[in-house]
Amino acid sequence: MHTNSHIEISQKALQNNINFLRKTFGKKIILSSVIKGNAYGHGIPQFARAAYNCGVNHFSVFDADEARAVRNELQNNVEVMIMGFVSETDVAWAIENNVSFYVFDKIRLQKTIKVAKKLQIKARIHIEVETGMNRTGFEKRELTWVAKMLKENAADLFFEGLCTHYAGAESVANLSRIKSQIANFSDIEEIFKKENLQPKIRHTACSAASMMFPDTRMDLVRIGIMQYGLWSSPEVFVNYLNENNLTKDPLQRIISWKSEVMSVKKIKPGDYVGYGTSFMASEKMKIAVVPVGYSHGYSRSLSNLGRVLINGRRCMVIGTVNMNMLTVNVTELEDVKKGDEVVLIGNQEDISISIASFSDFSNTLNYELLTRLDKGIPRKII
Ligand SMILES: Cc1ncc(COP(=O)(O)O)c(C=O)c1O
Repeated sequence: MHTNSHIEISQKALQNNINFLRKTFGKKIILSSVIKGNAYGHGIPQFARAAYNCGVNHFSVFDADEARAVRNELQNNVEVMIMGFVSETDVAWAIENNVSFYVFDKIRLQKTIKVAKKLQIKARIHIEVETGMNRTGFEKRELTWVAKMLKENAADLFFEGLCTHYAGAESVANLSRIKSQIANFSDIEEIFKKENLQPKIRHTACSAASMMFPDTRMDLVRIGIMQYGLWSSPEVFVNYLNENNLTKDPLQRIISWKSEVMSVKKIKPGDYVGYGTSFMASEKMKIAVVPVGYSHGYSRSLSNLGRVLINGRRCMVIGTVNMNMLTVNVTELEDVKKGDEVVLIGNQEDISISIASFSDFSNTLNYELLTRLDKGIPRKII
């Protein structure tokens, strides 16, 4: 476990976000908390626990490893749904542990039937259908076969969900593609109806789809980025504000990332800082070294661009971000010393470093930036 920095998860901010989401979607729609990618970098055990404390009882993950992490933390108190990869050996684990999972091809369906039969436990499956994303999902022409298998193997399969995923609902540029996906999904529902097959739930919406196309909410919404207090894109955010005549963001960032000053030194005009020549002092300067680098998730593209907070002031990252360290200009800070708190994301006094500004500088999506945060950084709920 590394101690160079730590991440704090605000229970209060999370409660605010969950309350907002519940109010937006209403009581009848299941809110599934998407915690793949180590809960978008927040840490699966810590985040799942905090979300559970806010009343969340349905979690969506990418693979069986992530599903295990949720089961380990919250045992059987919650529903867990795998939306992505289940290895051959994990099919049995998922069935035995009451974890539902996506089935999107023939091989997976046949394997599931075989394992469920052997275990004599019904597999809870979500049939993912291709509607236009061209990632995973049964093609329309395969659906008659799928329906036949579901009926013939009803003793071993529970048709829990019918689902799909949209190819970028956060951007107006994708409008016609998303609309065609919505129409395709509706056609596919009809195909199953004609076969007298009714899934327990239908689900298609991520954060952006749920906000931009309310019809996509159906029985369950799979919400990732918004529960962490961020919007899928500025378009979704602005659209929400305009439609609701609001000026203030209803969501709150729940993550803070903090470190400390490792050493302070003075340099003279003409001195270069760190590797190479990307930063040369043009005057007498004071610099502080922080024990966080790109190996921890602080992007190298923030070299000479990033900002951190020290002693209530915004300070520029100077020179190249190293693997384990970065250097900051603290010339203006009189009393800065070893051990002072450094905020990489979050607030200090009344100023803040948001993830959005952080990723604007590095040209990285919120999603990517968060999931890059090293798993070894200790996370705690505050
Ligand atoms: C299948 C699926 N559903 C839902 C989500 C959640 O998306 P968001 O974080 O935009 O809410 C994702 C994330 O990419 C996903 O892959």
